Amino acid sequence: MMTEFPAAISRRRLLQATGTGVLAASILPDHGVAAVPGQFPQSRAKAATVRITAAPASVPLMGTGKPETPVLAYDDAVPGPVLRLRQGVQFHATVRNRLQQDTTVHWHGIRLPNDMDGVPGLTQKAIEPGSDFRYAFTPPDAGTFWVHPHDHTAEQMGRGMAGALIVEEPEPPGFDRDLIWVLQDWSFQPDGRFVPGFDTTMEAAMSGRIGSVITINGAASHPVAVRAGERIRLRLINACLARFMALRFAGHRVRVLALDGQPVARPFAPRDGRVLIAPAQRVDLLLDATGVPGERYPVTDDFYGSGATYRLTTLAYSAKPALRNVLPATPILLPLNPVPKPDLSRPVRHRLTLLGGMSGRMAGMAMMADEGDKAIWGIRDSHDKMNNGMTPIFTIPLGRTALIRLENRTTFWHPMHLHGYSFTVLSRNGVAERYPHVRDTVTLRPKDQVEIAFVADNPGDWMFHCHVIEHQSSGLMTTIRVA
Ligand code: C2O
Ligand code: CU
Ligand code: CU
Repeated sequence: MMTEFPAAISRRRLLQATGTGVLAASILPDHGVAAVPGQFPQSRAKAATVRITAAPASVPLMGTGKPETPVLAYDDAVPGPVLRLRQGVQFHATVRNRLQQDTTVHWHGIRLPNDMDGVPGLTQKAIEPGSDFRYAFTPPDAGTFWVHPHDHTAEQMGRGMAGALIVEEPEPPGFDRDLIWVLQDWSFQPDGRFVPGFDTTMEAAMSGRIGSVITINGAASHPVAVRAGERIRLRLINACLARFMALRFAGHRVRVLALDGQPVARPFAPRDGRVLIAPAQRVDLLLDATGVPGERYPVTDDFYGSGATYRLTTLAYSAKPALRNVLPATPILLPLNPVPKPDLSRPVRHRLTLLGGMSGRMAGMAMMADEGDKAIWGIRDSHDKMNNGMTPIFTIPLGRTALIRLENRTTFWHPMHLHGYSFTVLSRNGVAERYPHVRDTVTLRPKDQVEIAFVADNPGDWMFHCHVIEHQSSGLMTTIRVA
């Protein structure tokens, strides 16, 4: 109901599914569960419980009539079932690992207790093959989030494990339709299998693994049915390992309502009508269906330049008369989330410098180049200390505002992601942001300098890394302690 595309689902799963609700995770009321001690206000509504199984599966990712692809999947589907949570209501998920290797689930963008964050060796022990792990948390923010493994990430995510996680507002905001597009890219062999070689050194040193087939909710080049006059909330989730996107909606003036799950203070039309979305980022758009009944409008991606532009999908208007004759000029506003506002009067300041890459100077990184260790990238703090691991690079006193200056000294783009927090992007290259956005993943272009700030109210050791997964696993990551 929330998507035009069926996820690519294995036949076994289809046979098991009874009627509707194939896509929706079974959210059942759970009585008598222990309350989760959390720092966030909780509603008295009943907790929701799901079970998620990570296992190999085989799905028609290349399209119907083409060979199936052996994948790793959540509940036999690529992407996994849409998880729908409610803001302020407890959520429990039992994750069963039926893979041949360890895994964990990371609830990307959710401000949750540290031991629920899903980072093996930092916040929990990895879930071993054959065993289960029970996650429990109360999402404080409504919005568009996602889930993915945080162990063997390049391979498990690259082979299909990712899914949308939607936290619903207590009151529906009033759209006619709620659409989710989980964007993923793949490299197939003619027999349907993935081109081997996830997490190679070459890809790690360059831009990461960028696939040649792009899917929306597990299906390639499917038109999206639209009815004239509709007001659509379109939730974009970039679940690619490394591909950036810049989407253009021909004939439409889309407006950005939320970034990384956090509503913007004032909705805006993206510059040049290009919706930029880096790996791991989410953009909620207001798509007012101003097109003509019966017409078709392409959605294209021109991030990598005009020579590499491709058509992602087509908005296919039905012949039905418009749902309403006049679309209001004013956007639909989403209620702001309870993210504490940074106190910039006396912040704790730090600087993090991103170094490395194929054409970057490897100077200062020799110390990390242990034999066999893929330390291609690194992060350096204000005291010239290199760090690319799980040892905290610095500690922020609990409750203080942190102001971190990020410097990209490389010639590559990096979507930098902080776990456990939504931060405010204050400035870029010395210019203050006019409307500072709150997000969990900020893009640094080559040589960019970006300042972010957040109230360190969530204790624990939190990962901070590039979300080009091959960059993360080859050193572009560190850990920030809040205590
Ligand atoms: Cu979605 Cu540590 O990442
Ligand atoms: Cu995360
Ligand atoms: Cu990167």
